[in-house]
Amino acid sequence: MPMGVYGAGHQGRLFGGPVKNGGKGKESMVGKIVTIPGDGIGPEIVREACKVLDKVGSAFGHSFQYTEILMGGCSIDAYGVPLTDEALEAARQSDAVLLGAVGGDVGNSRWYDVAPDLRPEAGLLAIRKGLNLFANIRPAYLYQELADACPLKKEIIGGGFDLVIMRELTGGLYFGERHTKMVDGVMQATDTLTYNENEIRRIAVKAFEIAGKRRGQVVSVDKANVLDSSRLWRKVVEEVAKGYPEVKLAHMLVDNCAMQLVMDPGQFDVVLTENMFGDILSDEASMITGSIGMLPSASLNEAKFGMYEPSHGSAPDIAGKDVANPIATILSAAMMLRYSFDLDKEADAVEAAVQQVLSEGYRTKDIMSVGGKEIGTAQMGSFIAGRIKGPSA
Ligand code: IPM
Ligand code: MG
Repeated sequence: MPMGVYGAGHQGRLFGGPVKNGGKGKESMVGKIVTIPGDGIGPEIVREACKVLDKVGSAFGHSFQYTEILMGGCSIDAYGVPLTDEALEAARQSDAVLLGAVGGDVGNSRWYDVAPDLRPEAGLLAIRKGLNLFANIRPAYLYQELADACPLKKEIIGGGFDLVIMRELTGGLYFGERHTKMVDGVMQATDTLTYNENEIRRIAVKAFEIAGKRRGQVVSVDKANVLDSSRLWRKVVEEVAKGYPEVKLAHMLVDNCAMQLVMDPGQFDVVLTENMFGDILSDEASMITGSIGMLPSASLNEAKFGMYEPSHGSAPDIAGKDVANPIATILSAAMMLRYSFDLDKEADAVEAAVQQVLSEGYRTKDIMSVGGKEIGTAQMGSFIAGRIKGPSA
């Protein structure tokens, strides 16, 4: 049995709910998607994900309508700001957002010669906050086919790993008050870290729900030996845990978690943490898979609305060369089908098509190894689209 896209540890999907309509797929539907190609490799990977979505549409009888908006450096070039109010409003009116990547080379780009709130990344923070996307789901799992790319020793990896980082995305240090000023002739910069109990509760609830459908374990990560915000975090997470007796809760300090991720990643199922810690730990978790070009992510609000994007960045050094790996974006589109459109069968079909192309040995440059067949961005998208099987196939 080939390992499923979401790894061997659960039934092949993050939320794993019952398949609707006896598995035959849903009635035909129209999905209004806002696409944000963004900067760097963003446009070429989003193009491939749309190719795959279109194939899903024709195979299952749905149609997807795309409205493209600008965000990041390209929006700065066009409008002088990383996200316009009109673009944010268009995203708000859609059913879901598909994002490529934003930003350029920090040391060497005109986009960074301006105030922080005018840089490309400010657009990303504004859309997260503006659409209330507080729950960031970042899966990290080891593909057996790509296990050689894992930077950890074989004895550490053992049977592989399959974890999900649940990162709070609209609070904490990222959105606290900040300022830089002169105090007694000395420059001083301040950032503040605030969480209220409601912000903690709603992300904790999502983490326990997901864990209940996976392997039933939540590790909540904080710095409760130092920070007040972490002590409140711990208290609220413990309260939420009482409502999920089938899920096992453990607490871990963030420095220890960083260590445990490289010592024994297989111990984790769902890692629940605040914004800044989640930023750092999710990069670490994706790096140890050895294939960051494969990892999707979702950022959700209270309802079914979400923004879906690859876990990797805009890679300006390889933009426009047809070498970028579109798989993370294609799998992000699969997450969109599952969470925003309730199209589980269709999402399964996308994940199966990715698995098939990998099993056939096709690789983009970043995941190439001896014996593989190297192909470009567009061909990878076409091959995956070509292997989507509709309900009657
Ligand atoms: C991420 C990125 C962003 C973040 C940056 C680009 C602002 O690192 O999505 O993890 O820190 O959230
Ligand atoms: Mg990050």
